Amino acid sequence: MLLIASANGSVGMAAGWTILRAGGSALDAVEAAARMVEANPDDHSVGFGGYPNLEGEVELDASIMDGATRRAGAVGAVCGYRHPITIARGVMERLPHVMVVGRGAERLASELGMERENLLTPESEASWREGRDGELPSSDSRRRLLDRVSSLFTDPEHVAGTVNFLAIDGAGHLASAVSTSGWAWKYPGRLGDSPVIGAGNYCDDRYGAAACTGWGELAIRGATAHTVVGGLAAGLPLELAAERAMNELRGLDVPGGEPIMQLVALDSAGHHLGLSSQPGNSYVAWEEGQDNYATLPRRLVPITGQ
Ligand code: GLY
Repeated sequence: MLLIASANGSVGMAAGWTILRAGGSALDAVEAAARMVEANPDDHSVGFGGYPNLEGEVELDASIMDGATRRAGAVGAVCGYRHPITIARGVMERLPHVMVVGRGAERLASELGMERENLLTPESEASWREGRDGELPSSDSRRRLLDRVSSLFTDPEHVAGTVNFLAIDGAGHLASAVSTSGWAWKYPGRLGDSPVIGAGNYCDDRYGAAACTGWGELAIRGATAHTVVGGLAAGLPLELAAERAMNELRGLDVPGGEPIMQLVALDSAGHHLGLSSQPGNSYVAWEEGQDNYATLPRRLVPITGQ
């Protein structure tokens, strides 16, 4: 058994591990773990209390994948429900679809019995107002606001969050879950990599799983999570498969600032790692025989330059 996550997933590790230790499925474990982060108002990159979009609305994206069947469910631009990971699971298990966005996803949430609520906390609203410089969205000020948003691309606190969970259960099955509120001040309706299967999330029992945090636009353009698992399928060891996926992002043009990409990955034998394009970052891992999770360094793999 194994459960790994981005560092902000630490608040969900106990919930996920309790399920795995009791003989539960990897799918149940990653969903339960992600829900803990979605409910954490102090995490402004996921769920309740997430930073809102340009218009001040918290819009959430999430996806979940079952490595045994390669079935997947994803939702995007969901407003008013704190647990998009559970709606994503509803897409996977209740609909003949993979991805449902906006009003459709909110309708499904309601049909699944979830309660609508305001996800904006005073703290995330204050940060949003600060970024807007207090401007109102008249057509004139909106142009200035878009310029201001471009200048905020360099701030990792506002553009690089998201939570990843990858698990292997006692039966050897894999599952992955990713949830995010996306970039602060994002253009309404913008989807990142988190709900895009193959970009921010991919999982296959035969080979392994990978998930991303950072600039979603890069992971979409590089099909980063699938590139890792595709490398494993081609016979590369985990280190090389993951490094190759990061290297594929080198040289992609970006709108400004230093591009950020981080990934966590594991192979079906239970090896795991975290990589980051920036120094000093970590991920968390809980392995069989341990009585708590460990915080481990991510290896630095720069993605700037040729
Ligand atoms: N990586 C999350 C996002 O870009 O929305």
